[in-house]
Amino acid sequence: MSWAGRTALVTGSASGIGRALAAAIIERGGRVWLCDRDALRVREAAAALGPSAVARVLDVTNADAFSSVVDELFHLEGKLDAIFNNAGMGAAGEVRDVSVETWRRLFEVNVIGVVNGINAVYPRMIAQGFGAIVNTASGAGLAPRPGMAAYAASKHAIVGLSVSMRAEARAYGVDVSVVCPGYIKTEIMKSTEFAKLDVAGLERSIPIQPISAERCAQLVLRGVARKKAIIIVGKTVWLDWLMYRWSPALALAAAGIRARHFRKHRQS
Ligand SMILES: NC(=O)c1ccc[n+]([C@@H]2O[C@H](COP(=O)([O-])OP(=O)(O)OC[C@H]3O[C@@H](n4cnc5c(N)ncnc54)[C@H](O)[C@@H]3O)[C@@H](O)[C@H]2O)c1
Repeated sequence: MSWAGRTALVTGSASGIGRALAAAIIERGGRVWLCDRDALRVREAAAALGPSAVARVLDVTNADAFSSVVDELFHLEGKLDAIFNNAGMGAAGEVRDVSVETWRRLFEVNVIGVVNGINAVYPRMIAQGFGAIVNTASGAGLAPRPGMAAYAASKHAIVGLSVSMRAEARAYGVDVSVVCPGYIKTEIMKSTEFAKLDVAGLERSIPIQPISAERCAQLVLRGVARKKAIIIVGKTVWLDWLMYRWSPALALAAAGIRARHFRKHRQS
């Protein structure tokens, strides 16, 4: 799919998957508004991408700020072809160890941040009669994730929101997709809130190799071009998801192994 003449807004684009998405869209001829709460890094990222990149400092949890950026975008660009609600943070730990403050922060960024993005652009996309809304969930939004239940809950919310909204939005010419990546090599561990876990030990014991953010971005853009409802990135996510759909009992047994693994790395 060529992005020539198209404009996208990508949240969380100072780093990782968002930054790679912005780069891939610009490489394909598009313009990108990079939005992130990290002022320094979002400006650096946009500067490195050249004149087709615009940087805006935006905390996605601030609905008014999100609307202002979108107002400005429509004023300057005249239209918006796609929004990638990608900004997010991680949380890990057994449910008994995760504080309600962590739950609140997580849902504020991973869920309300996406809702703010949708609210800011959807009426305008309906008015223009086209557009794509691409929300980043996770493989953790498709199957059980013991040791990461809070994160999984926030990402299941995004899958539920996206597949439900997709059916509503079609009538208005708006495509909704949800991205479910597996393990991607980014800086997400830095923003992840770990509760009572031996982080180094846990990281060392991850049995799979991460996919690069660049490859992830490629697969996401391919999925968006194909107007996919659910864009899965990574074989392990496919396997997990198919197993959960075909045999929930088997998937829950596998989840038991994962739970034991997290318990091994729990710090009392
Ligand atoms: N890396 C993975 O393995 C993985 C797997 C599945 C899903 N994801 C999801 O992919 C998305 C991108 O994560 P990543 O791995 O690239 O992480 P990352 O930490 O490299 O990048 C996340 C970016 O989001 C920004 N951000 C965080 N909170 C924000 C806020 N309130 N407002 C604006 N910007 C904010 C950060 O400043 C950062 O630049 C997240 O939603 C994450 O949950 C990541």
